[in-house]
Formats: sequence, C-alpha cells, structure tokens
Amino acid sequence: MPEKDKKLNIGIAGCGAIGSSLAGSIVYDFSKEAQLLALYDVDAQKAYSLSTKLNRKLAISSLDELINKVDLVIEATKAGTAFDIARKALSNSRDIMIMSVGGILEHYNELKALAQSKGARVFIPSGAICGIDGVKAAVASGKVNKVILTTRKPPEAFSGVAYILQNNIRLDNIEKDTVIFEGNALQATKAFPQNINVAATLSISGIGPEATIVRIVASPGIDRNIHQIEVDSEAGKITAITENVIHPDNPKTSYLAVLSAIATLKQILEPVKIGT
Ligand SMILES: NC(=O)c1ccc[n+]([C@@H]2O[C@H](COP(=O)([O-])OP(=O)(O)OC[C@H]3O[C@@H](n4cnc5c(N)ncnc54)[C@H](O)[C@@H]3O)[C@@H](O)[C@H]2O)c1
Repeated sequence: MPEKDKKLNIGIAGCGAIGSSLAGSIVYDFSKEAQLLALYDVDAQKAYSLSTKLNRKLAISSLDELINKVDLVIEATKAGTAFDIARKALSNSRDIMIMSVGGILEHYNELKALAQSKGARVFIPSGAICGIDGVKAAVASGKVNKVILTTRKPPEAFSGVAYILQNNIRLDNIEKDTVIFEGNALQATKAFPQNINVAATLSISGIGPEATIVRIVASPGIDRNIHQIEVDSEAGKITAITENVIHPDNPKTSYLAVLSAIATLKQILEPVKIGT
C-alpha cells in the first residue's frame, strides 16, 4: 500500500482490451489513491490512441522508460513477453501485476525469488476464474488430493492456436462438446498460451502446474467462456463454475478478468483486504 498521502504511480504495458479498461479505471475510479503515468505498447499507435482517449499525454516509446517512471507495472501484453517484462520490472525493484500468467508459469519460482531479493511484489489477479480463495485456504496447511479445471469455450475461440493446427483439429466440424486437450497445467499453457491463463493461476495458487489437471472442451452453441474447478481436499470438496461474459474488445478475453485486475488494484490501494 502506498504511504499516506502518496499516490501509487502506475504504468501499463499492453494497451489492448485489458490494458485499456484498466487505464480508464485508474484514471476515473482511483484518482485519489493512484495516478497513471505511462502507457506502452509495441504498437505505438495503440498507446497513443488510448492516451488521447483519456485526454492525457501518457504514451511512451520504451518499456525501460515506463519502468523508470512508476511504482507498479501492469503487464497486459501476451504470453511470450510477460516473463521479460516481469523480470525487468522486478530487477528494478518495481512491483508487477501479471495478466499473461500462462507466460510466466515455467519461471514462477525464479520471479518469486527475484521479487524477494529486490523487495518488490508480484500480483496475480484471480482473472477469469472463481474459487481461488478456497484453493488457497485448502492448501495453506491441509492436504489437497486433486484439482481439476474444465474449460469450455466456443470452437472459434481456439482458431489460430498452433496446437489445433499441429493436431489437425477441424474446429468448423465440431458439432457437440469435444475434449480437445487433456493434460496438466504446464502442458495446457504451452499448448494454449493465450487461452488458458486460468490454469496457470489455479495451479500456482494450489498444488502446482504438474499436479493440476486441465481439460479443454470446444463447445459449439455457447457464447460464454465457462471454467469449472473441482477440488478434493482434507477441508472438503470445492466446486466453482464461472460463466464468463466475453470482453467486447477481445473475444478471447473474459470481462471478469478485467474486473478481477481492478479488484486486485483496490486491494493494493486500500487498507482493508477482504478475502483469502
Ligand atoms: N489472467 C486471466 O485470467 C486472463 C484473462 C484474459 C486474458 N488474459 C491475458 O491478458 C493479456 C492481455 O489480454 P488482452 O485481452 O488485453 O489482449 P489484447 O490482444 O487485446 O491486447 C494486448 C496488447 O499488448 C500489446 N503487446 C503485445 N506485445 C507487447 C509487448 N512486448 N510490449 C508491449 N505491448 C505489447 C499488443 O499490441 C496489444 O495492444 C493476454 O496475454 C491474455 O491472454 C489473462
């Protein structure tokens, strides 16, 4: 939490669906506690357009410049770049909020150690999934036997994914619910880097990427991204189903993921933290 009377300086890397929604929220909803100081996107026009929309001069041309200016970096780019951005931010003792969680899963322990050594913090919002609170509590000191995630999305949500092409899966031929992937969370995030951030978040919060089971189902006729988690633990059974409305600016992103990042920001800025 920032010191009393000092605003938290925030910069956003990635000005797409999530970055743009978060920028608006910081400027309009958190103006007392925080200030947005920089926007960066590899597509400079996107940072510039967002900056203009917010009626401010926030677009900058390099990630290094963004990191220099702020206390907290929000990563909202893509799986392939999330680790580099997080490592750079933490190396400079900046806090980081990571949205492309699938991209850092393999390097999670490295980032955790770096954050520890630099006195910085890593925030990973629950994203498009509910039930993380229960999983965190269940693993806190009790035994968790099984964690299974079943994700259902419309077939077109998987278009262009390398795994689909390599395995000759014909998305346009799918007429009923079809399991297109089953494996652990690490394998899932490698096969679907942009589609299954929730698997990464769930596994980090619980029993780890190798032990968390992930099933991905292409489901024609649905217009929501549906995530179901099932947990079998010493503390009891947990079942949580989230039926996500799709973000209007990016059909691959759930609206709840944005709201979850805003809620995480609220936790950072406010003295009271609710939820496990
Ligand atoms: N944690 C979750 O539950 C969750 C849910 C949905 C999406 N996501 C992830 O969040 C990320 C952002 O999602 P989105 O819907 O805003 O995507 P988007 O495609 O709408 O926007 C991404 C933006 O990042 C920019 N970008 C790409 N590489 C960059 C780089 N190296 N540096 C700076 N900018 C870069 C792109 O130009 C684009 O403007 C994605 O990785 C997505 O998979 C996470």
